[in-house]
Amino acid sequence: ATERTLSIIKPDATKRNLTGKINAKFEEAGLRIVAQKRIKLTKEQAGVFYAVHAERPFYDELCEFMASEPVVVQVLEGDGAIAKNREVMGATNPADAAAGTVRAEFAESVGENSVHGSDAPETAAVEIAYFFSGLELVG
Ligand code: CMP
Repeated sequence: ATERTLSIIKPDATKRNLTGKINAKFEEAGLRIVAQKRIKLTKEQAGVFYAVHAERPFYDELCEFMASEPVVVQVLEGDGAIAKNREVMGATNPADAAAGTVRAEFAESVGENSVHGSDAPETAAVEIAYFFSGLELVG
């Protein structure tokens, strides 16, 4: 079924001008970028986005990092987009990521891992609504 997922190109990647190369991987995999903007999050906004991780030891570091440089937030659409995007991203820890994936090629560490992607339809809906209004979503 056609799905939408929320993707973030993280500060380590925008800083190194990797937005185009990462978008090329999404598009080559059949994911359509139906909405996209470059924004600079505050630490508080990053904290709300990652609230599910609030009790983790890396939470503070994660929020600082996400607010350190601009990010590109985007909505990817396609058949099975949530799983497909996770395939293109590769494992959270770049040391475990399969060859050819975004994280294998570009990520610097488990924390600075270049991209985020929603993990399920419910979280995708919440995460998309956090960054985009209905008017910004053109199919
Ligand atoms: P993401 O898919 O954006 O979801 C939560 C993020 O927390 C994850 O990618 C990593 O960037 C980060 N993260 C997960 N584990 C660690 C860790 N052990 N140390 C630092 N950051 C982590």
